Amino acid sequence: TILILDFGSQYSHLITRRCRELNVYAELMPCTQKIKDVKFKPKGIILSGSPYSVYDKDAPHVDPEVFELGVPILGICYGLQEMAWNMKGKVAKCEHREYGFAEVQISKIGGENNGADALFEGIGDQLQVWMSHGDQLSEMPEAFHIIGRTATAPYAAVAHNSKPFYGIQFHPEVTHSKRGKEVIGNFVIGICGCKQHWTMEEFIGKEIARIREICGPRGRVIGAVSGGVDSSVAAKLMHEAIGDRFHAIMVDNGVLRLDEAKQVHEMLNTHLGVNLTVVDASDLFLSRLDGVEDPEQKRKIIGNTFINVFEAEAEKIEAAAVAEDSKVGEAKGKIEWLLQGTLYPDVIESISFKGPSATIKTHHNVGGLLKDMKLKLIEPLRELFKDEVRALGRLLSIPNHLVQRHPFPGPGLAIRILGPVTRDQVKILQQADSIYIEEIRKANLYDQISQAFAVLLPVKAVGVMGDARTYEQVIALRAVQSEDFMTADWFVFPAEVLRRISSRITNEVQGINRVTYDISSKPPATVEWL
Ligand code: XMP
Repeated sequence: TILILDFGSQYSHLITRRCRELNVYAELMPCTQKIKDVKFKPKGIILSGSPYSVYDKDAPHVDPEVFELGVPILGICYGLQEMAWNMKGKVAKCEHREYGFAEVQISKIGGENNGADALFEGIGDQLQVWMSHGDQLSEMPEAFHIIGRTATAPYAAVAHNSKPFYGIQFHPEVTHSKRGKEVIGNFVIGICGCKQHWTMEEFIGKEIARIREICGPRGRVIGAVSGGVDSSVAAKLMHEAIGDRFHAIMVDNGVLRLDEAKQVHEMLNTHLGVNLTVVDASDLFLSRLDGVEDPEQKRKIIGNTFINVFEAEAEKIEAAAVAEDSKVGEAKGKIEWLLQGTLYPDVIESISFKGPSATIKTHHNVGGLLKDMKLKLIEPLRELFKDEVRALGRLLSIPNHLVQRHPFPGPGLAIRILGPVTRDQVKILQQADSIYIEEIRKANLYDQISQAFAVLLPVKAVGVMGDARTYEQVIALRAVQSEDFMTADWFVFPAEVLRRISSRITNEVQGINRVTYDISSKPPATVEWL
């Protein structure tokens, strides 16, 4: 395992990703982590970048024990400066913040202790890299030598004369640094000696064993499924581990996509064998949403109603299980665990040394669920990134079209209907959205887009049908490409695809006479309209 200590850089999680892509397991911890409390012995440590300057009064600093562990250390950007700060080097502000591409001249001089040979093995004399920093090294730390320089940074890469300590000013973890992954590979595999063992096959075996151990031979687990990738994969994994002692619940809140509940049942239950109950609570949700326009209010109502419905269903499942168990003479059957599809980015977010960052919308999840039932959480995906979850899903025989599915918000179509939510409005939006997605799939564009959906604008636009004027509503189409949904670009469709979608929606969906395409990026817009 590689330990990555996070000083708050926006790129820290990418270091973890790159290590995992090399099949080396890496874990991110806050930079303030006390080394004696780390439960595993890392084979190497990477110090991340940071928005701070090492001389700032409140600058984060690493436990000095790190340098005594006897394992290789790689400092990236601030990580390098932090190393220098600990080893009598000097850091100075650059005249101009450096941001963008730079070319590193590598100084491979041969010789036993020249760090360039190890860190830049297989890389020629030059390396195109991405820089993003305001400070840089102005004086070398004690017992270090230069292994790379750029036109503006004389100490762009340095190495210790006798210990396996390395520092680089650039960011090898971002994809702009074209051969950055090789540099990280040289460090974690070549220098730290990590084995490339981290694979999904390996993960499945270990995780199933772990789940069986914590649940014991009789323990029961419940979990909500939404039809999304994470909850489906988590549910299938639980099913593999404990069979029907895992109960999945899908709540139909009346604002799902067209035929969603039916499709989820077919996939998870009929096809994958997961023990699943679908609860049609659409009347309850829609009656509570009646007349509500404020999006935050909609989110709250849907979140709270979801908890009510889920809890009631869980109690029923528990009662049935207790009855069933008493038949075989063992009054157990109690549900002890709640499955959550938490992913690693959420874990990272909550371990940041600065505390979780502010969320702009109150994204609803099942956080406050089942307080009274006092369930313990089971989170089999908490070590995984999204694409690892997808790979896991494929190995668990979940079909590709589900594994590659775009995200869908918990409050569903309620936040895509701009006015009050009614059954009729839901139906219009479901039809338009379904045509839109169908045409995107037919044009083979689905996997190039990160998220696509239709939005219903409850304005009356004028149109013409035969000789008569019509006054009908408007559909806005949204499609974005994004790495992490913090920023997003609108997707450039071929004109003929948009033409086909527009003509099908206006022809086939009653109540719509106009279709527009949203060409706003995030920021300043958000992905959803509400
Ligand atoms: P925004 O609109 O904030 O969307 O740019 C970023 C991502 O978050 C999703 N999103 C939500 N997901 N509950 C959810 O579960 C919500 O209330 C919610 N609002 C936005 C959005 O679909 C996009 O993927």
